[in-house]
Amino acid sequence: MGLLEGKTALVTGGSIGIGLASAVRLAAEGAHVFITGRRRTELDAAVEMIGSAATAVTGDISSPADLDRLYETIRSRGRGLDVLFANASIAEFATLEQVTEEHFDRVFGINVRGMLFTVQKALPLLNDGASVILNGSTNADVGDDAFGVYAASKAATRSFSRTWANELKGRGIRVNTVTPGPTDTPGLTGLAAPEQVADFKSELAAQVPMGRLGRSEEIAAAVAFLASEQSSFMTGSSLYVDGGLNQI
Ligand SMILES: NC(=O)c1ccc[n+]([C@@H]2O[C@H](COP(=O)([O-])OP(=O)(O)OC[C@H]3O[C@@H](n4cnc5c(N)ncnc54)[C@H](OP(=O)(O)O)[C@@H]3O)[C@@H](O)[C@H]2O)c1
Repeated sequence: MGLLEGKTALVTGGSIGIGLASAVRLAAEGAHVFITGRRRTELDAAVEMIGSAATAVTGDISSPADLDRLYETIRSRGRGLDVLFANASIAEFATLEQVTEEHFDRVFGINVRGMLFTVQKALPLLNDGASVILNGSTNADVGDDAFGVYAASKAATRSFSRTWANELKGRGIRVNTVTPGPTDTPGLTGLAAPEQVADFKSELAAQVPMGRLGRSEEIAAAVAFLASEQSSFMTGSSLYVDGGLNQI
């Protein structure tokens, strides 16, 4: 028996990276997993990998209409939602001097506004005892150069998990943040120019006490733990999966 037999889960940004690894893991634990993302080709490849335990719905979490369509699809399955992993986010570098209104609106529009309405619009579907997991970042705690807007968006994420844990505790719904350190994903790779990717990853790995980047599957293991009854006494928490980066 898996940890999530018979459960229904949603992973936003479930087509690649940490979201895909989490969708694979939640399905392996017995859940039916809805995945969403903006690009159809990546979603189709993910469904091919996961098989009949996955349903893909194309959409942008910063679009309320897309979220309504997503939740209508989940509603029509008739089982509600037991696990919501609000994972979809974007990351872009800009120093304080370089930040534009467009940069701010793009990052906050997806990472903060999009995450908020992802969870708000799920409320009628969430079954009592459901688990909501927000994807944070070790960047929320530190002041890395040129990552200020992204870091602030992740600090907002961490804050949301505290408030929502309080607001939803009466329904037995737990809300936690998973907090990854640098993890080898297409998103991380995309932060550097192609000819600089290897150096960029080596520099990041050198900062991690364990001396390497995380693997998406390692974040997914923490997501499965938070999704399941194994974490039944955790809410409002942040679970760091960071190779010791922000710990030692
Ligand atoms: N990788 C790291 O080092 C790291 C570290 C700490 C935290 N995190 C967090 O972990 C999460 C996943 O990161 P990742 O590295 O796996 O990213 P990734 O490889 O870039 O994957 C991001 C996923 O989110 C989807 N997505 C992005 N914007 C979306 C939108 N507006 N609507 C719907 N889907 C959207 C993408 O699909 P489409 O592009 O097709 O929409 C994709 O499926 C993020 O919250 C990130 O902040 C990552």
